[in-house]
Amino acid sequence: MSTIFKKANTAVITGGASGIGLALAQKCVGYGMRVLVADWDAKGLEDAAKSLGSGVSTARVDVSKVEDWGELKGRVEKEFGGQINLLALNAGIGARTAFEGAEADPSIFRKVLDVNFFGIVNGVSTFLPFIKEKASSSSDYQSAIVITGSKQGITNPPGNPAYNASKAAVKSLAEQLSYDLRAQKNINVHILVPGWTWTALAGAASGRAKPEAPWTPAQVVDYLEGKMREGKFWVLCPDNDVDEVTDKKRMLWSAGDAVEGRAPLSRWRDEFKGEFAKWMEKDL
Ligand SMILES: NC(=O)c1ccc[n+]([C@@H]2O[C@H](COP(=O)([O-])OP(=O)(O)OC[C@H]3O[C@@H](n4cnc5c(N)ncnc54)[C@H](O)[C@@H]3O)[C@@H](O)[C@H]2O)c1
Repeated sequence: MSTIFKKANTAVITGGASGIGLALAQKCVGYGMRVLVADWDAKGLEDAAKSLGSGVSTARVDVSKVEDWGELKGRVEKEFGGQINLLALNAGIGARTAFEGAEADPSIFRKVLDVNFFGIVNGVSTFLPFIKEKASSSSDYQSAIVITGSKQGITNPPGNPAYNASKAAVKSLAEQLSYDLRAQKNINVHILVPGWTWTALAGAASGRAKPEAPWTPAQVVDYLEGKMREGKFWVLCPDNDVDEVTDKKRMLWSAGDAVEGRAPLSRWRDEFKGEFAKWMEKDL
């Protein structure tokens, strides 16, 4: 049972100036929590501070830079007395990568990994000691580390190899962290795997109206809260197009590539289309 969302608890949320992170900050504020929103978008931070109101402070940081985390650490010591009840490592970018053409530039691959993966490594290495210290000193203290992954890091659809690789690495890291903390009953680790969510990263920046398929960021964080209350590590969000059973079947098929000796990404290959379609029709 999660007791994270409650008055006077604290939250540090990266990528909290927009989308899912902003919706999570709004939820925390709604519970009367103190929130530190960390983001690198100065204008986004300014707008978020205005919309979130008092109880929220902001920090302009680039999560990929170790030195920026030093600054954030100072802020948490000063403003929260070192107490973090919710650490949401959520900042991410979706820069396009490919194996040919301009998108094959290794510097883009590196940037995606620096933000999406090392941004989380930096956050864990900076704040886990704080969280463990508080958790060891009081059994009443509850903390949650929420790490934002992606279905692309699990089923690996074709296109954008760096994004997929970064999110596969994030999944691995979150699983390892959960395992390492298994004896620490007052620290929970969760991986948030959004479905398609209508945010700047996933279409909303275009200014077009929200299509039917994606969830709103608020739906995602409500779903997250429910799973946190159930104490679940996996927070695999559906959306209006893809339900939970469809996701599960797709993940099992994906894992089956190695087990069955199929070609990688078989789901998208013409020679496996029929077999995959039959698989999706089966009951789990
Ligand atoms: N929207 C989706 O459909 C979807 C699906 C799966 C996973 N995700 C993941 O959800 C997370 C949140 O994304 P979102 O969809 O809310 O997008 P978003 O673009 O609305 O929010 C991402 C936020 O991260 C910030 N950010 C980016 N790089 C940063 C950096 N180096 N340092 C600090 N802040 C940085 C951005 O300024 C922005 O405020 C990401 O990790 C993304 O990969 C989103």
